[in-house]
Amino acid sequence: MSELDLAKLLEFSISLAKEAGELISQGSDAILSSEADEVDDKKNSVDLVTKYDKAVEELVNQRIKKAYPTFAFVGEEGTSASGSLPVFTDEPTFCVDPIDGTTNFVHGFPFSVISIGLIYKKRAVLGVIFNPFLDWLYYATEGNGAWLVKAGGSPTKLPLHPPRPLPSLSKALIAVEWGSDRSAKAIQARADSFSRLAGDGKEVQGGKMAHSLRSIGSAAMNFAMVASGQLDIYWEIGCWPWDVAAGIVIVQEAGGLFNTSDLSLHNGEVTGDSTDKVLTGRKYIAIRPISDAKAEKGKETQKRLVKEFCETIV
Ligand code: IPD
Ligand code: CA
Ligand code: CA
Repeated sequence: MSELDLAKLLEFSISLAKEAGELISQGSDAILSSEADEVDDKKNSVDLVTKYDKAVEELVNQRIKKAYPTFAFVGEEGTSASGSLPVFTDEPTFCVDPIDGTTNFVHGFPFSVISIGLIYKKRAVLGVIFNPFLDWLYYATEGNGAWLVKAGGSPTKLPLHPPRPLPSLSKALIAVEWGSDRSAKAIQARADSFSRLAGDGKEVQGGKMAHSLRSIGSAAMNFAMVASGQLDIYWEIGCWPWDVAAGIVIVQEAGGLFNTSDLSLHNGEVTGDSTDKVLTGRKYIAIRPISDAKAEKGKETQKRLVKEFCETIV
């Protein structure tokens, strides 16, 4: 397979995200005005799915099959039933979450997006995240920066403001999520970690608690907001490749650090790379672009913060 034409693929993916966004908006109107309960459960009563998740995935899959018949396709609705992680090959693979933030979608909380990632040679190389409720479109391709287009305006390079320093976790606005594993063990582990970040009555890294914690209910939007600099850190246990494929590229191209927070995968080192281990790590952390006189020093600061973070949450 020759090298990919990323510019053409980006144009295609943006137009597909917009088309899918229309279907998501129509689905939202229908679901919120319907008297019937149109929400089904997947593995438990907080893991939700609707006919719109499936219809959007079907639409996206069909469009991709027609335009790029040799590309592989991994979509949440077609893949997650198996309960196993997808295996990525070297072939180009679209990795799609048709609606990321289904809980938001069924409640009318306007943070639901379509997330389209492209994986090539086990690296995430293209990401498009579109929120049709806010009309915010985020996109990035490897080597070309990350961009946001708000409501048909002009593309703005991410981060939205010049990167500021982030000296310690004590200065951070941190996004966390409850996820759908509500077993006592999983909930207790999250609650313990969250309370450590929020202070826990004790001092945390840097001598103080984080500024605050947020949960907006969409992994992809969390990554996009970290890339924008509106969130300092996003951390979650239990994400799947379709939650992260587009976000990886957008965060990294903005100058942020994206990695699995399972440091053991890297023998205790934070590598910041985008290998298949990062794609299938399940535990993720993203840190916003950080200023520093030398870019290298900024990267070192990001890595130090990941270490501090991992030490704080356990
Ligand atoms: C979920 C959302 C949520 C995150 C979960 C994801 P879904 O995706 O991104 O914010 O906490 O881990 O599974 O089910 O709405 O596509
Ligand atoms: Ca998702
Ligand atoms: Ca989904």
